[in-house]
Amino acid sequence: KKKVLLFCDPGIDDAVAIFYAVMHPQIELVGIVADYGNTTRENAVRNVVYLLELLHVENVPVFAGAEGPLTGKEVQEQPDIHGEFGLGTINVPGEVDVEPFENFFDVIDVIKNYRDEVVIVTTGRLTSLAALCTFYPMLMHRVVSEYVVMGGAFFVPGNITPLAEANIYEDPIAAKLVIGKASMITIVPLNVTDQLLVPMKVIREIAFDNGYVIFEALVDYYYDFYEAATVDELLGTPLHDVVALSVLVNPEFYEFVDYRVFVESSDTSTAGVTFPDLRRLEELKPGPVHRVAVEADEHAFLNDFVRILSRKK
Ligand code: BDR
Ligand code: CA
Repeated sequence: KKKVLLFCDPGIDDAVAIFYAVMHPQIELVGIVADYGNTTRENAVRNVVYLLELLHVENVPVFAGAEGPLTGKEVQEQPDIHGEFGLGTINVPGEVDVEPFENFFDVIDVIKNYRDEVVIVTTGRLTSLAALCTFYPMLMHRVVSEYVVMGGAFFVPGNITPLAEANIYEDPIAAKLVIGKASMITIVPLNVTDQLLVPMKVIREIAFDNGYVIFEALVDYYYDFYEAATVDELLGTPLHDVVALSVLVNPEFYEFVDYRVFVESSDTSTAGVTFPDLRRLEELKPGPVHRVAVEADEHAFLNDFVRILSRKK
């Protein structure tokens, strides 16, 4: 089983990714870091705790991650896509204990516990991971077995600016740090996630089979946003974050190219742009190279998505 430490910002597609991780027989969630991003850090923590309860998952530690980006800017919540509190129309009741950021570093114990096996998957902004890579560089280099990052857009349209993807755009400083400090990150950009459209009909069938009514309600909210934003008939929506986990357990569905990757971190109209160095790697000075997913097998993805998520409660 892949031992996954997930950094996320639920967020509807993050929630779908949590469903997939919990229901996948080859994935063991060993911890979740809930970050600001689609919603506030506090809502993200509350949503993660709620989803784990709903899915009857116990003993997975939840850490409250970063509160905002290293740029110092305000968090740009995304209520139109993800809802006022991050989960469509759901406002999770009750109080949740949100610890100060200092306590986030307890996550190091999880990383040490699963040394050489832990896989870090990120489906949110990269701020918390950048903090770990900066303050624990040796540990993060030696002990983490794999990194998978959902983010970026390589010569394809962005989704938050014409050129940039949201997870990179909101904290390009953090993204640059992570990409410069870790090596052989599997990067899952819009190049593949935008190809993998899930029709609402499929979501309804999955929810009918697995018994989680909320699964349909969640995606429905997200679908409405995409429907309003599309002129043509909507064939389906991309559920970006679940693709990161699909890539982890089904790499054979994807094609990858190894690149030296750059992130534009200046505060200009090109902020958050990701691009590869297209020169031959042998000609470049030594430095981290990453594995960028560039193509996907749509049928294989969708069949697996349905198979995993349709499991009964
Ligand atoms: C990414 O941005 C977020 O808003 C989504 O949850 C996903 O992680 C897609 O660009
Ligand atoms: Ca996300």
